[in-house]
Amino acid sequence: MSDEPRLRKLLGARIRSEANDLKRTEDALANELSISRQHVDNILSGEASLSEIHCMIEKMAAAYPVDAADMRLCEDDCDRGIGLMRAAVAASSGRVFTRRDRNGEQAPYYEYRDTACSRNGPFRPEWIKQLRVVGDDDPENPDVAYNHGHALHQMTFFIGPVNFYWEVAGTRHACRMQTGDSNYITPFWPHSFATRESDKPALILAVTFGGEVRRALRDCYTLRPTALERYYLPSNNPGKARVLLLRQRMQDEGVTESVFMERLGTDAEACDLTRMLDEKHELTVQEQEVLARALHVEVGDLAVPTYRQEEEVVIRHRDDNHSYLYPDRMHPAYRVLPLARCRKMPAMKGLDLEVLGRDASLGALECSLHTYVYNYGKSSVALEWEFEGETHREVLHTEDSVYLRPFVRHGFENTTDQHGQLCVMRAGGGVSIAVQREMSAFAGIDRLIESKRWF
Ligand SMILES: [Fe+2]
Repeated sequence: MSDEPRLRKLLGARIRSEANDLKRTEDALANELSISRQHVDNILSGEASLSEIHCMIEKMAAAYPVDAADMRLCEDDCDRGIGLMRAAVAASSGRVFTRRDRNGEQAPYYEYRDTACSRNGPFRPEWIKQLRVVGDDDPENPDVAYNHGHALHQMTFFIGPVNFYWEVAGTRHACRMQTGDSNYITPFWPHSFATRESDKPALILAVTFGGEVRRALRDCYTLRPTALERYYLPSNNPGKARVLLLRQRMQDEGVTESVFMERLGTDAEACDLTRMLDEKHELTVQEQEVLARALHVEVGDLAVPTYRQEEEVVIRHRDDNHSYLYPDRMHPAYRVLPLARCRKMPAMKGLDLEVLGRDASLGALECSLHTYVYNYGKSSVALEWEFEGETHREVLHTEDSVYLRPFVRHGFENTTDQHGQLCVMRAGGGVSIAVQREMSAFAGIDRLIESKRWF
């Protein structure tokens, strides 16, 4: 289903918003870009063709200090709010990758398959079948070939007798996993997967996804490495990280230590700046409040993330004792088992859903996060969802997968007496909690997508 008319209108609005920021009227755009006024109007209203709109974006990027890539928008590749991938389509995308074995020979290691994905979502998930068979749980097994780690976060769902291997700060680890187990892997830690049994299906759903850093990559690529390093706060050394951040805030505020001491005034007696700039010192609540007030920031803006060594790689084994019934015990639609969690990634939420009922409307799910779903059970499950006031339905067969946009209300029901088994992964998109906080302080957001000149 083409979304092009809507996309053209949105691009017109996006160009309008950039022109507003540049204080350029329609006439100014026409004169400076050598385009007729009528054509400018057609582009801003979304009536021009996509190629004409993109041509104007290129002309603006050449004439003004604006970024063409920042003005382009992706066509919505979802159909009524979801993107479905059937198992057969996924299978046709299969490709086998080799890695070295214990003899140094290249031999099959993984089969990769595509799975549901949207260009407007944070996920870059893969279905990965383990082809390398191991006879032990030794993290140094020479048949196990580690990767170098990657920039995306990874939540993994395990199906079958899979061994998980990972390396943190030079030390390698291994763990036996089975169906329903899950993990989280911090970017750039090397890892690998192998199977313990050649005659049983062994695969993982490697749901990789980008977070705030991924969305800031254009800035990161453009900054000089020496500048990029200045932003890095060594989270495993909280004292050093805290002082680096405090000094950064002071520089941003435009104050030296002596100016800042004067600004602290009478507070300086209770809050010794030299002590507060000591890495070994832990700020008291009073010191935090004094610093935040003097720097015109929130207390939270001076806080560095809490370092938890156990969150470098998180492993969660399936434990039915930790399940709960959703929405409640009296009318359960699903038995839910939370997958691997970590507090540094608050918008990462994986759920293992056992579908219990035959009425999808009883188990309505709706959330602010992007959602990826994979049917790993033996039976089909019906997905019902709402989009623009209408209810739609598709049956998810074994190994089918689906991506759902945020706030698409949906539910699942069994199509037979068998209980369905779904892996549900959720991750945040561009509208992060930081964006949400900033936006919520605006006078309103009805004009966020601009439709007229405001100056
Ligand atoms: Fe990975």
